[in-house]
Amino acid sequence: MTFQEEILAGIPAALPEAKPYDKEINHAPRRKDILTDEEKVLALKNALRYFPESLHAQLAPEFAAELKEYGRIYMYRYRPSYKIYARPIDEYPAKSRQAAAIMAMIQNNLDERVAQHPHELIIYGGNGAIFQNWAQYRLVMQYLATMTDEQTLVMYSGHPLGLFPSHKDAPRVIVTNGMVIPNYSKPDDWERFNALGVSQYGQMTAGSYMYIGPQGIVHGTTITVMNAARKQGGSPAGKLFVTAGLGGMSGAQPKAGNIAGVVSVTAEINPKAAEKRHQQGWVDELHDNLDELIPRIRKAVANKEVVSLAYVGNVVDLWERLADENVKVDLGSDQTSLHNPWAGGYYPVGYSLEESKKMMAEDPARFKEAVQASLRRHVAAVNRLAAKGMYFFDYGNAFLLESSRAGADVLKADGSFRYPSYVQDIMGPLYFDYGFGPFRWVCMSEKPEDLAKSDEIAVKVLSDIAAHSPEEIAGQMRDNIHWIREAGRNHLVVGSQARILYADCEGRTQIALAFNEAIRKGEISAPIVLGRDHHDVSGTDSPFRETSNIYDGSRFTADMAVQNVIGDGFRGATWVSIHNGGGVGWGEVINGGFGMVIDGSEDSARHIKEMLFWDVNNGIARRSWARNEAARFAIEREMARTPGLKVTLPNLTDENLIRKALQ
Ligand SMILES: NC(=O)c1ccc[n+]([C@@H]2O[C@H](COP(=O)([O-])OP(=O)(O)OC[C@H]3O[C@@H](n4cnc5c(N)ncnc54)[C@H](O)[C@@H]3O)[C@@H](O)[C@H]2O)c1
Repeated sequence: MTFQEEILAGIPAALPEAKPYDKEINHAPRRKDILTDEEKVLALKNALRYFPESLHAQLAPEFAAELKEYGRIYMYRYRPSYKIYARPIDEYPAKSRQAAAIMAMIQNNLDERVAQHPHELIIYGGNGAIFQNWAQYRLVMQYLATMTDEQTLVMYSGHPLGLFPSHKDAPRVIVTNGMVIPNYSKPDDWERFNALGVSQYGQMTAGSYMYIGPQGIVHGTTITVMNAARKQGGSPAGKLFVTAGLGGMSGAQPKAGNIAGVVSVTAEINPKAAEKRHQQGWVDELHDNLDELIPRIRKAVANKEVVSLAYVGNVVDLWERLADENVKVDLGSDQTSLHNPWAGGYYPVGYSLEESKKMMAEDPARFKEAVQASLRRHVAAVNRLAAKGMYFFDYGNAFLLESSRAGADVLKADGSFRYPSYVQDIMGPLYFDYGFGPFRWVCMSEKPEDLAKSDEIAVKVLSDIAAHSPEEIAGQMRDNIHWIREAGRNHLVVGSQARILYADCEGRTQIALAFNEAIRKGEISAPIVLGRDHHDVSGTDSPFRETSNIYDGSRFTADMAVQNVIGDGFRGATWVSIHNGGGVGWGEVINGGFGMVIDGSEDSARHIKEMLFWDVNNGIARRSWARNEAARFAIEREMARTPGLKVTLPNLTDENLIRKALQ
């Protein structure tokens, strides 16, 4: 069967050959055995819904074995026989070009070079799923290949509910992931619902087909490391940055360290993850011996090298050794997957990776204790170095939250965290409040020359805007122009021909309109997909991350993210998604995003103007209402130039007056 025929066949009528379990691939950890015997019956019944009854006798024992062995039913046999990667848009069988673009984005997420555990359909973050099983993947691809521009595909947590009639301006796909009744949003609820095959953790860009590999995060990480280094004063040269994680997103840290010009040391316990990043050129040197690593660090710092070192081992061992040896660390953070602490996101010190995985599956209560003990040691070592002047920040992975829950010494007397989150100190006030966020695009021709052309356009547009930008955002504009100029040289593409930069509403809109024009004129040879990370101005309500710099008490509400996705949906998005979980964990955040296919048409130009405007200004308006000064500045500037925009502004009060009134 050709690639096209296999897609059109969907779930094949005859049983495909069983696939061998590929040991070369990085596989998801075995999930904990959480279902009761009766629930296991239900899980199998649910899985078999995708297949004709004639196959059930054969599939039931196979799926039962998967559930027992892996804690989930992935339906490995149904992995397609073709290689999965983003092909040029015209290679997909399709009646709708928009749907073909979505197929390419899905395939990019699942590309073995891009996905963390591709065979378990996990894209990043340990549990960030695109689909729950391979039957869903096959059905979705078939629906996309056969749908028209007058239909909408409805996705419930990886399951395609079906195609419903709509119209050409409606989204082609609406995605919800992990949406549950709030009282059922504890981590074990996710384990149970996911094992039953009725819900999934979509992370942010995983379950919304918008992941573009580590590049997506390199830029944000570079901005963060650069600004963190600025906080320490002086030049970044010779500054030491210590952190953990070389996984999906965390793998961007060493590259960002190099771009920012510091010495970085990143601990990674999983040798497969470390080797992958090393082979890709994202980290310069791998070390598994602390006796050798410590002198290497001292030498790199003394010589002001721009170099990224990795410690293949547990980060707690690294921190303790750095503290014991009095190594001066300037910047510290952590990007283990603590949003998912009990199921493989964080490996406790004192155990090998294999021992941890075994304990996690066989004795989850003991594993939890080991993680919490490890976090207490982790924080104790960080505290010792912070006392000597290290600037430590939480990287939005729930490090401080889980450490505090573990009883680590991480709280101040007033109950707040000892260390800031990167959003409170850097991303919030400097970027999100002004509307700057992780705008991205993917060239559907998959030609590097189209990407190079788009980079050129973006530099020109941003430079023109920067020429008349107010002083408040001049620095952000400068950093972004520098980034995009260097992007091609830094070889950031892994998977599809994609690019990211941080831009505000004006920047995003003008860049997108210029791309549309270039496509219309044939200077760019195929449509472009616009999108963004959910980690943005308006897309995400996450009290310990994106909205951690909201101080009016509304941090725990999620109106903004829900409104955002609804508003994008009727203003021209090609697909929208809204998720429970993402970044800091299931139950801790609601986040949403969009994808928009632009093809050089008038319709595309209209969608760009209407949708991007809402997608950025919704969040600025909310941030302004929360009395954030930068957001107030940005929304007043926007109202002055946009007829029809009328935002409710807060009146500021004298706090002394209130305190007196309450006496
Ligand atoms: N990069 C960003 O800008 C950003 C922003 C917000 C949040 N985050 C958060 O960062 C976390 C990491 O994301 P990811 O996609 O890289 O996840 P990931 O699971 O792919 O990578 C985490 C890595 O940490 C390693 N690890 C776990 N415990 C360790 C330990 N004790 N010592 C050394 N290594 C250990 C794991 O082996 C894994 O490779 C997530 O919680 C994510 O939400 C990242």
